Amino acid sequence: MKDEDERWQLLVAVDSIPNAGLGFAYRRGGATEAGILVRTASGVLAFRNVCRHLHVRLDRTDPGRFLTADGRWLVCGEHGARYRPEDGLCVAGPCLGAALRQLPVRVSGGNVFLDSEALEDPFSTSQVPS
Ligand code: FES
Repeated sequence: MKDEDERWQLLVAVDSIPNAGLGFAYRRGGATEAGILVRTASGVLAFRNVCRHLHVRLDRTDPGRFLTADGRWLVCGEHGARYRPEDGLCVAGPCLGAALRQLPVRVSGGNVFLDSEALEDPFSTSQVPS
């Protein structure tokens, strides 16, 4: 088990997350991976920035663009898959019914932290800690 400082990766201040979402990098094992932070009615959520269709970043064709113009859906620029920000479920497009992988984050002291310990199990369902 890691100590608490090693376990929780500081990502960003909540106030720095724009309504259009924010891409971020995080460490998983020895690799750097890409994630997306979004504000929802139930709080800040994070997802891996990997489309469930072809395993590319959602914003590969338009870096930094994660949401549709109306802000309602996370969108993949490749073929237009739309995902619900509330749970990552694909509601339209070639990966209909699949879901973005949620990342385990918590908000504390106005900052967003990622649970590195929960990331270590690639088969984890990424439960978000309370
Ligand atoms: S790669 Fe994302 S919709 Fe096809």
